[in-house]
Amino acid sequence: MGVVVPLDEARAAGERLAPLLELVNEDMNAINRIILDKAVSHVDLIPKLTHHLVNSGGKRLRPMLAIASSKLCGYTGQGHVKTAAAIEFMHTATLLHDDVVDESDTRRGHKTARLIWGNQATVLVGDFLLGQAFRMLVDVGSLAVLRILSNAAATIAEGEVMQLAAAKNTATTEDAYLSIIDAKTAALFAAASEVGAALAKRPADEEAALRSYGRNLGLAFQLVDDALDYGGDSARLGKSVGDDFREGKITLPVILSFRRGNDQERAFWNRTIVEGKIEESDLQEAIRLMKRHNAIADTLERARSYGSIAHDALAIFPDGSEKTALRDVIAFCISRAH
Ligand code: IPE
Ligand code: IPE
Ligand code: MG
Ligand code: MG
Repeated sequence: MGVVVPLDEARAAGERLAPLLELVNEDMNAINRIILDKAVSHVDLIPKLTHHLVNSGGKRLRPMLAIASSKLCGYTGQGHVKTAAAIEFMHTATLLHDDVVDESDTRRGHKTARLIWGNQATVLVGDFLLGQAFRMLVDVGSLAVLRILSNAAATIAEGEVMQLAAAKNTATTEDAYLSIIDAKTAALFAAASEVGAALAKRPADEEAALRSYGRNLGLAFQLVDDALDYGGDSARLGKSVGDDFREGKITLPVILSFRRGNDQERAFWNRTIVEGKIEESDLQEAIRLMKRHNAIADTLERARSYGSIAHDALAIFPDGSEKTALRDVIAFCISRAH
């Protein structure tokens, strides 16, 4: 399988996160404690299923963004910790739901909750986590933060439904694809970045700048994720490469290959993605066609371009370790292999 990101580059990407990890380390320990505390319920299955996913790891990118943006904005209160934990709960809930919708078998290197406990329990525990997230946000007591995150929750669901409607439709445009990833992924990155400014009650232009940073970072993140679904390595990713192909999901590598392909190639995409008639060697063939048309490379190129927008969005903030760390996240997301 062609590896999009060379290993040394991926390692360098991990190292780029070191300053961010140092900046957020203390708060992240508190967040991890809150996550375990708030997964508690008198209904046994709830903590069991939640711990399965939470203990499997995860990059915790979104809560780190919330903490770093709070620090960038000079926030001195304590609300950022619970807000960040709530954001990770929202993310965890969307992963539980997403793996049911996508019928995925592997997440964070382990069997998905839906394979172990079934779709029904998985969806309901996802709902519980979403409810817990909003309970925590009520404790934080910022109407501005509640507004940002309730909007994000609704938008994520809209994005997932939009994606469902676009499934197996090779006529999906790049614009439609962008609207989907804007909603299902970038909305939470934008919200996580914006909450720092809202908590610190910074002026509207700073809040907008952080929102723009998060949104464009989120777009870049999902573009890279969609490239890795064809060019990555399952073991490093902790999820199965080729899931998108098997599901008939229309992502940018497919959109570009379909549009750039000849009639025979389009017939291949119609048989596999539209009709779902997929044979053993078809994933390799899909990757070969993507390479022929530079579809994976161009998907990564688009990601780099959104990364540049995210970088420039932070220009209005004073230079310092917080701004550097947030900019490092962009480089990490673009060169990541997991
Ligand atoms: C996975 O997000 C869902 C996408 C938006 C592609 P992450 O890759 O941040 O998931 P974890 O939390 O690190 O497992
Ligand atoms: C990510 O979508 C899930 C959400 C953002 C809600 P994907 O389906 O593309 O992500 P993976 O590949 O399952 O992590
Ligand atoms: Mg999925
Ligand atoms: Mg994916």
